[in-house]
Amino acid sequence: MKFFIDTAEVSEIREAAMTGLVDGVTTNPSLIAKSGRNFLEVVAEICALVPGPVSAEVTANDFDTMLKEGRKLAKIAKNVAVKVPLTVDGLKTCYALAKEGTQVNVTLCFSAAQALLAAKAGATFISPFVGRLDDIGTNGLNLIADICTIYRQYPNLKTEVLVASVRHPVHIVESAKMGAHVATMPPATLKQLFNHPLTDKGLAQFNADWKKTGQSIL
Ligand code: E4P
Repeated sequence: MKFFIDTAEVSEIREAAMTGLVDGVTTNPSLIAKSGRNFLEVVAEICALVPGPVSAEVTANDFDTMLKEGRKLAKIAKNVAVKVPLTVDGLKTCYALAKEGTQVNVTLCFSAAQALLAAKAGATFISPFVGRLDDIGTNGLNLIADICTIYRQYPNLKTEVLVASVRHPVHIVESAKMGAHVATMPPATLKQLFNHPLTDKGLAQFNADWKKTGQSIL
């Protein structure tokens, strides 16, 4: 499973990238607003930091403007994946950009039917939002299971399932068990993946016992 980091904070991306675990980055207009940075500049910086896909989202709602925005974003760097919303105009934009060889991430997916449409439109990634489905009292992971099952029926489909709106490690582990290709997560959730109280307890014991030997490796 590939790991993407869901943030527009360059310092967080730099720190996470040092672990060697980061395969790409996702941003959205809310994350850009939170960063307080210029959108085009920050995307260029992120693209230089990580070799993998960096999602940059269009902000228009109509096809003509989305396509213009998408083409401009795609020119920033080779590893830009243009993000479009799952609307009729968004999927038309996806189809047009994909034909031009641009990677496209179709976002705001909340149903298996939408995921099927995105794959047919040539999306590189489909982003189902698990956390936001959980937030309204449904089980977001059921959607990941459905999409993985559907896509598996058609081996020629190249669209990757990018699990988004991840809130905790269980979302990632369960999605990995289903065969989802990518999970995008906030930096704090990446850190949570490392944690286990028995690791901390075991290490404290090893440290204490090693101290008793009076030895040093170096
Ligand atoms: C992914 O591409 C989205 O930007 C993100 O995962 C949305 O997460 P949220 O529901 O926590 O805002």
